[in-house]
Amino acid sequence: MVKIENASFTYPDGHKAINNLSLSVKDHELVGVVGANGAGKSTLLTLLTGINLANEGCIYIDNIPVGIETLRDVRRNIGMVFQNPDDQLFMSSVFDDIAFGPRNYGLAETETENRVSKVLKILEIEHLRHRMSHKLSGGEKRSVAIASVLSMNPAILLLDEPSSFLDPRSRRNLINILKGLKMTQLIATHDLDLVLDVCERVIVLKNGEIYAEGIPSDILVQEELMADCGLEPPLSLGGCPVFKQDKCKGIIGGLQ
Ligand SMILES: Nc1ncnc2c1ncn2[C@@H]1O[C@H](COP(=O)(O)OP(=O)(O)OP(=O)(O)O)[C@@H](O)[C@H]1O
Ligand SMILES: [Mg+2]
Repeated sequence: MVKIENASFTYPDGHKAINNLSLSVKDHELVGVVGANGAGKSTLLTLLTGINLANEGCIYIDNIPVGIETLRDVRRNIGMVFQNPDDQLFMSSVFDDIAFGPRNYGLAETETENRVSKVLKILEIEHLRHRMSHKLSGGEKRSVAIASVLSMNPAILLLDEPSSFLDPRSRRNLINILKGLKMTQLIATHDLDLVLDVCERVIVLKNGEIYAEGIPSDILVQEELMADCGLEPPLSLGGCPVFKQDKCKGIIGGLQ
């Protein structure tokens, strides 16, 4: 469904952000993309949607090569949640932002309303329905941005830092939603516990290249590998300094 063959991308200022990267993602696969700040996660997602076009190599979405002439077809299959929700929300109300995609695809207003109501409900943000998008908090904007993409029901879902700004309950709800979705997903994130919980495979990026890939519970525990890429193992796998240094024993001991 997603195929990247030796793709490279250099920004106009000469900075090479993706370097000879190849990757295949199967239908319905959930893939986490991790890496330190600047590793190339967001850039990689923009290449899949054609926001940026690879300077070298080829990218195929559902066998369609991503290029200027094919953008419309490519984007029919893809929905992307941007790292910054302000890049995603541009209508005056939450309802209109979430309805934008379905309306743009020519869906009838009743079907559009059904879709908006459904995603508002599953994301537990029905109370935001009539609010102005640009006046929301960071976490509220994040949830609305996710809703605005889910309302289009894309075959491939790209999520860039979907859990950032979310409170613990909203994050847990998001994790459950992502696990329940049937679509192909690529999730770029620093939330390694989310990757462990949701993804079948993880890609570790370093300097625009794939440094490692595999099953999250195999890859993310490798302290040396993670350190090489400027990362730390997830908290739940011993990356928590309190647990690691056994300080918690003292804390728990003090409570007893
Ligand atoms: N518009 C741009 N012009 C020039 N360089 C850019 C541009 N956008 C990003 N870069 C550079 O490309 C590299 C990859 O950036 P990218 O945003 O893809 O990283 P990232 O892995 O998503 O990082 P983060 O974890 O901070 O979101 C970085 O070195 C960044 O400085
Ligand atoms: Mg990024």
